[in-house]
Amino acid sequence: MDSVERGVIAVEMNRRVHSVGRGGLPNTSGQVELDAAWMEGSQLRAGGVAALRDILPAVSVARKVMEKTPHVLLVGEGAEGFARQQGFRPQRLLTKESIRLWREWKRNQASSGASGSGHDTVGVIGWHKGHTIVACSTSGLPWKLPGRVGDSPIIGAGLYADDQAGAAVATGIGEEILRFSVTSRVVEAMRRGASAQNACEGVIRFMIRRKPETTKTMVAVLAVRKDGQCGVAATRGVFSAYIRKDKRITELRS
Ligand code: GLY
Repeated sequence: MDSVERGVIAVEMNRRVHSVGRGGLPNTSGQVELDAAWMEGSQLRAGGVAALRDILPAVSVARKVMEKTPHVLLVGEGAEGFARQQGFRPQRLLTKESIRLWREWKRNQASSGASGSGHDTVGVIGWHKGHTIVACSTSGLPWKLPGRVGDSPIIGAGLYADDQAGAAVATGIGEEILRFSVTSRVVEAMRRGASAQNACEGVIRFMIRRKPETTKTMVAVLAVRKDGQCGVAATRGVFSAYIRKDKRITELRS
């Protein structure tokens, strides 16, 4: 769990990544709202936070929700109050660059009305002798409406883990991932015996068949089956996942 948490935190703290943690792009009101979650596959324990303001690392607050409360998801002010109780101190998530980008969007939005679309979630799956842990974190869609929650803190949409089948985590447009319960479908396909790769590809193909416009949006899913086999698939373009095993890192492409 600590390795998975460290992996997610490294991205949350990187101010150059504009879709996760510090430096993440804000909502229409100029506030950064973070979503993050955990799930572990042996007991199906899970914890998440949504629309969390002013607190980092969001993934660590989500871990506390899993470990210290009987609940699965805390949102908004409740999540922030819980984080403070657990010793997390408020901090500034906006950076000079994210404020600049938000101001630029405000100026352009008046003329084009465009809303944000390009973004990514950080997702990490840990596997050890058949046990699976998954965590993810995001600042969500840039220029989203205040209170908008994506797939990342929703169990079965942004992430899922069950040691009897495997684990999966998704990235891309949260609304599409939520609509299709993407990671739950991938894990269930692995439970029925699909390879991790076939499970990911099968769910992406189903999404495109059921709703052809899905090809216009980016959704990617990666999975690790209970035997450690990995897979990745995306609705468009090439999506890369990285596998670290015995200190060796290899790339897996959709
Ligand atoms: N996949 C992250 C989000 O849409 O919020």
